[in-house]
This record gives sequence, structure tokens and C-alpha cells, in this order.
Amino acid sequence: MVNDLASQFNTQVPHATFLAAGQLDGLEPLLRSLDLLRSGESIVRTEKPGEGNMNFVLRVVTTQQSFILKQSRPWVEKYPQIAAPVERLAAEAAYYRFTSQHPVFKNWSPALLANNAEHLVMIIEDLGAGSDLTSIYQSNHTMPTRDIRDLFAYLAELHRCSLDADPAEFPTNQELKQLNHAHIFDLPFRSDNGFDLDSVQAGLSALAHPIIDDSAFQAQLRELGEVYLGTGPVLIHGDFYPGSWLQTAKGIQIIDPEFAYLGHAEFDLGVMIGHLLMAQTPMTEIQRGLEGYLQAGRLDHALVSGFAGAEILRRLIGLAQLPLQLSLEEKRELIAVARDMMRTPLVL
Ligand SMILES: Nc1ncnc2c1ncn2[C@@H]1O[C@H](COP(=O)(O)OP(=O)(O)OP(=O)(O)O)[C@@H](O)[C@H]1O
Ligand SMILES: [Mg+2]
Repeated sequence: MVNDLASQFNTQVPHATFLAAGQLDGLEPLLRSLDLLRSGESIVRTEKPGEGNMNFVLRVVTTQQSFILKQSRPWVEKYPQIAAPVERLAAEAAYYRFTSQHPVFKNWSPALLANNAEHLVMIIEDLGAGSDLTSIYQSNHTMPTRDIRDLFAYLAELHRCSLDADPAEFPTNQELKQLNHAHIFDLPFRSDNGFDLDSVQAGLSALAHPIIDDSAFQAQLRELGEVYLGTGPVLIHGDFYPGSWLQTAKGIQIIDPEFAYLGHAEFDLGVMIGHLLMAQTPMTEIQRGLEGYLQAGRLDHALVSGFAGAEILRRLIGLAQLPLQLSLEEKRELIAVARDMMRTPLVL
């Protein structure tokens, strides 16, 4: 199966060794070729470290250490018939190279240990057992104020430290951006997208119609999409939502920056704020977090609000659904909040 896919896509990566869980013959030679195993060190076991869709991710436990291997093949791991751009691995590695160079991120993100473009493999520090924070959408879960403040502080540092970054060090990630753009700014808002929203929740498709029919909204969406597709002055994570926030023994860690590129800080902030609102975080907490961010940088508030609103709407009525526990009425209210935010920027 993996070999068939490899031959189907191998024009992009002619020499790559594609790994498969349970078939690990190629793993040890690969790790040795990357100088990751010391003499006398051997692999004890491998395991899946957590849930993911896009990539092949493996925890490798050796006689002396453990680390996380991520292989980003030219397809989506969970849906192998869907092609995916391999540049995403270079984008992710460049991000971790950047955070590994700045001490402020030491306790925030795994260190980059190796990166090999030929085999589309990246090795990063193992943060230990953890679970992502998608649990915050559950109705009995509230995000501690301190964590919210820290997440804003992380973005403030990321955007501040990268302001003078050399563009040559960061891949444009343009193909992945195009794919993401379609799922954020385009497909969810087409009347012919074929999504059966009522099978997600009875009555949901009726909530989508007024949004789709609003031409002013559609025009704003096109503008936001153009900003997303363009470039900007700072390194952005590009997918700063609870699935990229890992709760570990040493606190929250930020992982999975495969959507990173030099873009607009407002995108990271808007996406985060959108998800905090979907997790029913009070607006006052979000505003306090933003105030903390603003001590370090300046923002286009209309852009932050626009991206936050678009993220809420696409998650509620698009394909990339979240494990939300909201009633139809709560979704209706959230849609109204999102649309208000897009019309009138968040005020502090
Ligand atoms: N450095 C790490 N240390 C410990 N666990 C990790 C580490 N990196 C990833 N994981 C675990 O593996 C899971 C999958 O990793 P990751 O999110 O990077 O993969 P992905 O395929 O890009 O996911 P997605 O499809 O959500 O984009 C994470 O949710 C986390 O549980
Ligand atoms: Mg990912």
C-alpha cells in the first residue's frame, strides 16, 4: 500500500524511504544515516504518540533516548488519495530551527534534532505523553486565565523575535496555503459545496444560508483570503488552535507548525481568538490577553477580528468540523458574534 503510493507520487521524492508503522526495517538505517543513534544504541520500540491526520508521526524509543519522527509524505496520511505538498516539512523544520535558536522558546516548543529533505523526515525532541487541548471545547472545561495569557505571550514573542527574520530562511509554503485558503475562505461559503450540514446537526444548514447569500460578507472574505495568501513581516505559526497546543508535564507546548510562513500576526491571533470563543471563553479574558500582546506589538484590529470571525464561521459551517458541544441556539449566537466581529473590529 505504502509502496504503491510511493510510486504514484515518487516524481517529487525519487529516493525517499517511506516508513510504515509495524514495518520498521528501514528505520534504523535511516536514523543511523542521520547520525541520531550512537554506537551501541538500538531501537527498543516505536509507538504512535498521539492523533494526527496529515503526516506519519512516530515516537521512537531507543536503548538511550526517545524522540519524535515526523515524515510528511506527498499525500495526506489519513486520506492517501489526497495529494499534499511536501514543502510543508521544510516550513515546519524552518519554524523549529527558528524557535530552537531563541532561548525564549526553550520551554515552549520541541527542539529540532534533525531534518532530511531527501526522505521528508524531521526528528524533534520528545515532549513525553501529552494530549492536545481540543478538550477545551467541552462544556465542562474552562481554559485557565494563566494559560490564555501565556498563549498570547507566546505569539507576542514569536512575532516580535521574527520581525527582522531573513525571508530566505522560510519557505513560502504557498501550495499548502492555497489548500488551506480553499478550506478557510472559499469552500465553506459556497452554496454548491455539497456539505450536508444537517447530518452534522439538524437545522445547521439553515444557519448557513444567510451567510452564503450575503454579498458584502463574501467580498470581505475575498479580501481576507488575499491577505492570507500574501506575505507579511513576521513568522506565523499558521495553525494556532487547540490541536497545536499540547498539554504536557512541563506545561503547554506548541507543536505542528507545518502551516508556518512569513505572514501577518493578525492571522495567528484571529485564529486563536476564534477558537477561544468557540470554547466559550469570556470576551473579557480574550481582551485581557490581547492587551498583554499589545504591550509588545501593534495590530490591525480589523484584520484580527476579520480572521477570528472567518475562522468561527468556517469551523461551524465548513468541512473541518471540531468536537464542539454546542446547541443549535449556541451556534446561532456564535455566528452572530462572528459576523459582528467582521463588521466591527474588537475594541479594547
Ligand atoms: N514533540 C512531540 N512530543 C510528544 N508528542 C508529540 C510531539 N509531536 C507530536 N506529538 C503527538 O503526535 C500527535 C500528532 O502530531 P502532529 O500534530 O505534529 O501531526 P500531524 O499529522 O501534523 O497532525 P494534524 O493532522 O493534526 O495536522 C500530536 O497531537 C501529539 O499528540
Ligand atoms: Mg499537522
